[in-house]
Amino acid sequence: MRAGFTTASADETERAGHALAGLLRPTDVIALSGDLGAGKTHLVQGVARGLAVEGAVGSPTFNILLVHRGRLPLYHFDLYRLEREDDLEDIDFFETLEGDGASMIEWGYRFPRALPDDHLLVTIRRTGEDRRSFALQAHGERSAALMTAWTGALRAAGLAGAVVEEADA
Ligand SMILES: Nc1ncnc2c1ncn2[C@@H]1O[C@H](COP(=O)(O)OP(=O)(O)OP(=O)(O)O)[C@@H](O)[C@H]1O
Ligand SMILES: [Mg+2]
Repeated sequence: MRAGFTTASADETERAGHALAGLLRPTDVIALSGDLGAGKTHLVQGVARGLAVEGAVGSPTFNILLVHRGRLPLYHFDLYRLEREDDLEDIDFFETLEGDGASMIEWGYRFPRALPDDHLLVTIRRTGEDRRSFALQAHGERSAALMTAWTGALRAAGLAGAVVEEADA
């Protein structure tokens, strides 16, 4: 299953993340793909705000993993600087994904085999100075349900007008 939406500013991207926050459950996994500066961190920051995480929500680029503690723990990975797939064991990647919170993984497709069967892939493309397109691809039942709920919440929030849903060809 696929869907998509667009945003016209960094603030709108954060609001799109905010709309996702209330729908997340423990063990949900969202892989974020897109070039440097696409907006992956901004989307996660919106989710963190929606989960009522207090204080600054940084970027985990140099830390690999940041934990944002709100209504639900949000495990925010950035695998850009992780050199080897084996290093995932050292950061407790697999245990964390199966634990008590939801996970959002920047550069998650560097190691596609490491992702759980059920995950939502969000691919962000820069379509203008402040415009971004978000392509959603659900892998598995839970992520399909999450994607449908998210696009519904985006519509309800009056965000990102162009939400199109289509079945996989
Ligand atoms: N519609 C938009 N959505 C998100 N960010 C936007 C948008 N328009 C402009 N921006 C800008 O693009 C940049 C996105 O940065 P962000 O750190 O979120 O990217 P990233 O995908 O996490 O990059 P990296 O791979 O380096 O971690 C910010 O400077 C932000 O202000
Ligand atoms: Mg980032």
